[in-house]
Amino acid sequence: MQPDLAGGIAVLDFGGQYAHLICRRIRSLGVYSALLPHDTSLEELKRMGVAGIVLSGGPASVYSQGAPAADPSIFRSEIPTLGICYGYQLMVKAHGGEVGKVEKKEYGRASITVVEGGGLFDGLAEDRLVCWMSHTDSAKSIPPTMKVLASSSNSPYAAVRVSGAPQFGVQFHPEVSHTERGQALLSNFAFGICRADRSWSMEGFLERSVESLSKIDGRVLCAVSGGVDSSVTAALLSRAIGPRLRSVFIDTGLLREGEADRVRRFLGKELGVNVEIVDASEQFLGALRGVADPERKRKIVGKMFADAFEEFARREGPFTHLAQGTLYPDVIESGRSIGPASVIKTHHNVGGLPADLSMKVVEPLRDLYKDEVRELGRLLGLATPVVERHPFPGPGLAVRVIGEVTKEKLRVCRESSSIVEQVLEEEGIYGRVWQAFAYVGDDLVTGVLGDERKHGYQVIVKVVESVDAMTADWTRLDPGVLERISNRITNEVPGVVAVAYSISSKPPATIEPQ
Ligand code: XMP
Repeated sequence: MQPDLAGGIAVLDFGGQYAHLICRRIRSLGVYSALLPHDTSLEELKRMGVAGIVLSGGPASVYSQGAPAADPSIFRSEIPTLGICYGYQLMVKAHGGEVGKVEKKEYGRASITVVEGGGLFDGLAEDRLVCWMSHTDSAKSIPPTMKVLASSSNSPYAAVRVSGAPQFGVQFHPEVSHTERGQALLSNFAFGICRADRSWSMEGFLERSVESLSKIDGRVLCAVSGGVDSSVTAALLSRAIGPRLRSVFIDTGLLREGEADRVRRFLGKELGVNVEIVDASEQFLGALRGVADPERKRKIVGKMFADAFEEFARREGPFTHLAQGTLYPDVIESGRSIGPASVIKTHHNVGGLPADLSMKVVEPLRDLYKDEVRELGRLLGLATPVVERHPFPGPGLAVRVIGEVTKEKLRVCRESSSIVEQVLEEEGIYGRVWQAFAYVGDDLVTGVLGDERKHGYQVIVKVVESVDAMTADWTRLDPGVLERISNRITNEVPGVVAVAYSISSKPPATIEPQ
């Protein structure tokens, strides 16, 4: 079911933090793009029929030992190639130029002057463009076979082209949003230079997926959590195989306010997805009684989840397939397709599903990025509150209640978080932030209510911005918005007398408090 790279653009992964972003940007032009290992040979790329190759950035230095290299024949091929940052430096080295340390590290904005369109900058009328640099090495000299297309004060060879060959290199990152006209540059490369096929769209993906998934002859089991990925997985499979899909929503008692009702409404009623709600909250809370250690809480939730799921599978089975909402970055980062990524994300999974159920795994979203999944969800008719939902941790509120998980703290946490979400929705901020919630611990603080002194919970509100959850920054909310959140929580959530706002970024803090 893997989309075909014929007529598309392969991005060879040298481990740069923006490698995924290059793929996403190219896909948003309507051209299929996939991340491949850095040492994919030219022969393989030709066999795939790619229209173009991008060599991504990466943390290494081209001369250092063990530095990832590309198949040298790529640099002599007729397939258009664009080297970005490290990929560019490899190209310079391969063509006989010299790469070295820059005197002043260039991180962030820089201004480049376009000397010549050369295909890559065609139609970018501005002769000065702001672009994003992030490098310690750069081309020191280029061979006579290369000509300069753009320069900056620090990088005389900010962009080059090999004369008479469709080989281009840029020192900056056209894929990041801070680079002005970066998308236009990628579009020039994709269409003007590679003549890539405009054949990637979510409508097309939906059609192909439904057709291929409908060939599954058997019964499919899918766990839904109310989150975007599992909801889209279930909706897609439901469209393809109808009643042969059974979805189960396990209410752990650790979920956001009204989650079971939302699943019933948005998946069940509105889309007709076959979903059963299993209320296992008492078992989960029972197993968590007296446990304060965050890692033990995580393990218990994982184990309880696997047990509940397994019980459902045995009771309602047999099933031939198990569906999971795995996304493309997870596939790449879990090493199933390997690049030398310098940061490998640790996976937060729902505690590992039982391995011995002898079902085949179906992952219909394994080629998609999150924003594409959201678009697919919209096409499938999923409501906006589902497709725009913030991520939520597998162990749920067990990691947002500090210390022992009690019904009282869960209520405080759930009601306060719901207020945070409501206020941000009303202010039009919800969709712009990564996560927003409230958490609570055991400490009680003193408050006054009327003439009475009273001890109560202090709730901590957290709103963060992030691109991939690897790093996060706290959101500078307007004081008026903070005030509304605080007033509503103390007025409407019984037992809370004070509200604090978390102003820690990740690192050093993590997004979840536990
Ligand atoms: P942290 O807290 O590590 O979170 O900064 C990064 C992202 O992962 C989510 N998260 C989890 N998700 N199981 C999950 O499924 C977990 O144990 C878990 N811990 C954190 C968190 O919500 C954030 O989006």
